[in-house]
Amino acid sequence: MQLQEIINAYEKDLAVVESFLEQGRESYVDLIPEISRHIIMSGGKRIRPLLIMISADLFGYHGENRYPLAAAIEFIHTASLLHDDVIDHASMRRGKAAANQLWGNAASVLVGDYLYAMAFKFLTASNNQAVQELVSVATATMVEGETLQLIKSGDVNITEEDYLSIVEKKTAILMATACALGPVLAGEPSSSVDMMTDFGMKLGITFQLTDDTLDYVGVEEDFGKTIGMDVREGKMTLPLIWSLQNSPSSRADRIRRIVAAKSADDGDVEEVAGFIRDTGGIEYALEKAGSFVAEAKELIADIPPSFPRDAMVVLSDHVLSRTI
Ligand code: IPE
Ligand code: IPE
Ligand code: MG
Ligand code: MG
Repeated sequence: MQLQEIINAYEKDLAVVESFLEQGRESYVDLIPEISRHIIMSGGKRIRPLLIMISADLFGYHGENRYPLAAAIEFIHTASLLHDDVIDHASMRRGKAAANQLWGNAASVLVGDYLYAMAFKFLTASNNQAVQELVSVATATMVEGETLQLIKSGDVNITEEDYLSIVEKKTAILMATACALGPVLAGEPSSSVDMMTDFGMKLGITFQLTDDTLDYVGVEEDFGKTIGMDVREGKMTLPLIWSLQNSPSSRADRIRRIVAAKSADDGDVEEVAGFIRDTGGIEYALEKAGSFVAEAKELIADIPPSFPRDAMVVLSDHVLSRTI
């Protein structure tokens, strides 16, 4: 099975989700749809809505509620990106100028707020308290993750464990929620919900791990974001954490000073990237990502084979090998 086959299979469902994304960003205050349209229409991968469609299919839920819920999850993701780009001083998102560059921080924050609010409006329409609780807690957890990361910015002593704890919160929890929504909507027992939550957590950690390697070795035109941003922001990700712990202190100390200063120029970024390449940090992070994907696939291995089960497996492999 190819990724394209999966996208084709859920194309009609995703088109319905798109119509909710269009409807939800409307406002008489023109700036709100203008900025929303800019980010939403610039080619996000829609991986979270796709996960919801596959998960619902896997557990036999084909009700209408999955559409506004998928739109709610994508709005929460989009809002977090608008805010994250302000926090990270990003200049590029999805291959275009980031909203904060075009309209400024204040407008980005406000439109992010609007999208969060519309997400919760879609959420109430589900009339399902378990779903509402799940998504609300996930959203709060994401903010905890981003805040923990903010506190740790420039801290060159963070461990792999600290890093994974941040990643679980800022990124993986929303994918876990997307994967859990299928069994929750289908009224499945908690064992299925737990299984899909664990699966989504592992997939989400893998997703951020590959993202953090692409920040060093990605191709900007494919990735759609500026390469080398993490060093500039003093953000310690797994490739760097591992390389620092596994190299002679003279070189590592120099790299630590660059990261802690949070003012790296192009030369500094290249120096840190070269250091990570030389010392195997990328390979280590990808190996780690590979073991999370293997664990994720193992979790769903006992589900009888079906199109959505196989689609989850193919999507997991894709998250590991992605370049965009
Ligand atoms: C970007 O998420 C933020 C991270 C969690 C790394 P995606 O890579 O899913 O972003 P889009 O929606 O496809 O642009
Ligand atoms: C991704 O943050 C997680 C959230 C937006 C909550 P990052 O800062 O790691 O992701 P990119 O690289 O900006 O997409
Ligand atoms: Mg960012
Ligand atoms: Mg960030």
